[in-house]
Amino acid sequence: MSFDLVLFGGTGDLAWRKLMPALFQAFRHGTLPEGGRIIGVARDALTDQQYRALIRSRFDEVELAKRPSAEEFDRFAALLHFIRVDLSKPADYRHLAEVLRERNAETVVMYLATAPSLFTVACEQLAAAGLNTPATRIVLEKPLGHDLASNRSINETVRRAFSERQIFRIDHYLGKPSVQNLFALRFGNSLFEPLWRRETIANIQITIAEDLGVEKRGAFYDSTGALRDMVQNHALQLLCAVAMEPPINAHADAIRDEKLKVLRSLKPWSALALSQEVVRGQYAEGVVNGEPVPGYRQEAGVDPDSPTETFVALRTEIANWRWAGVPFYLRTGKRLAARDAHIVINFRPAPHAIFKSPLGAANSLVINLQPRDGLELHLLAQGADNRRQQAALSPVQLDLDFDKRFGSERVGAYERLLLDVIHGRLNLFVRSDEQEEAWRWVEPVLDHWAADTEGPRPYAAGTWGPSASSAMIARDGYCWSEAC
Ligand code: BG6
Repeated sequence: MSFDLVLFGGTGDLAWRKLMPALFQAFRHGTLPEGGRIIGVARDALTDQQYRALIRSRFDEVELAKRPSAEEFDRFAALLHFIRVDLSKPADYRHLAEVLRERNAETVVMYLATAPSLFTVACEQLAAAGLNTPATRIVLEKPLGHDLASNRSINETVRRAFSERQIFRIDHYLGKPSVQNLFALRFGNSLFEPLWRRETIANIQITIAEDLGVEKRGAFYDSTGALRDMVQNHALQLLCAVAMEPPINAHADAIRDEKLKVLRSLKPWSALALSQEVVRGQYAEGVVNGEPVPGYRQEAGVDPDSPTETFVALRTEIANWRWAGVPFYLRTGKRLAARDAHIVINFRPAPHAIFKSPLGAANSLVINLQPRDGLELHLLAQGADNRRQQAALSPVQLDLDFDKRFGSERVGAYERLLLDVIHGRLNLFVRSDEQEEAWRWVEPVLDHWAADTEGPRPYAAGTWGPSASSAMIARDGYCWSEAC
């Protein structure tokens, strides 16, 4: 299958850090269809050779399971080309159109790995240059807008040029193998389904913790914050994957219809909830992985008085028959104690105690997303001390490590998603109505913070966030997974 993948922002961070390595991996795994070109597009004046050399030099900085030999990289690099395009210049798009027409590939992917403020102009210009043929697919990176209105306006512009079937809105969390396994756990196995409901589940916790700070993206991050950067998209997509009803089949719209229903059922924010059930924090200096690190306000590109949150913890509920009354706790932050993303399903304790159990002990299922990918089932068992009658039960766990089971070089998120775009599979991409619904739900929090002079609560880098986050969950009688 012939394809041209045009990478707008071809010299940018995302391109060399994530997309090129992912394309390289697909090439290495033999899954990138033969006969393809990868065309980097940016304002720089580079030849193909210079572009290949640039990507080569960046490869030393990226994580790859196995470094490529010079020969292997050269074979991959033969697919790379470069075209200079200034996104505001119609003539540059016409030139791009000519280059693409000469080859007339079966599939043309336009990947907008640029600042979102350029999406509108890029889509308009692509259409004006006739680059929105039925063979074209357009990929949009998050964040798509900074609130509901801007998200809608981007979606409307994109839809004027492309049909919904051509639009691939990326949320790379959906491409992670661990998230695929969450779908497999829920919809490929019958074991947990009867338990997956309010009668048996006490609460659900979703944590996406990062130990990194804002890296080189200080200026971008400072105008974005954790709620827009992580909650509106990744955390809510995980919540949908946990809470959605089984879709009628595995087709894109069947899955997206069910996710949309979850987003529509999220409990609307009351004034009380806004003040008590959402906590924002900002990291101060501290120690992460044994190294001292600066506070957020000292990072390059960040306003020294910045009110931007680098941590959010919140409590919500899903108002439907399956979940009514079950608290869902979401938490994400930068410069936390560890890189650790996981979901904990806490089951209700046994209704009547005939054994001595540790206080409050109950079963839980932990879905580890990263850095480990696997499942832990926490149970209670009669431990070594079984001589005495009435011995206390001890916590034990069943542990399934998918990396050990399947090998750690499984297909990564971007590799999977890029191949899906090339093959036209929309299952793991976000529909516009899902995105709008997620913005609608986070917007009251953004408005509340904009009007609130208190600002985010500081937390020392290398901890689990402000103590108000533990206090929030403790009000319901629970604790975050690492503290229980
Ligand atoms: C991105 C955010 O979408 O996800 C980043 O913009 C964040 O701020 C990243 O670091 C986290 O992704 P991952 O795959 O490393 O957990």
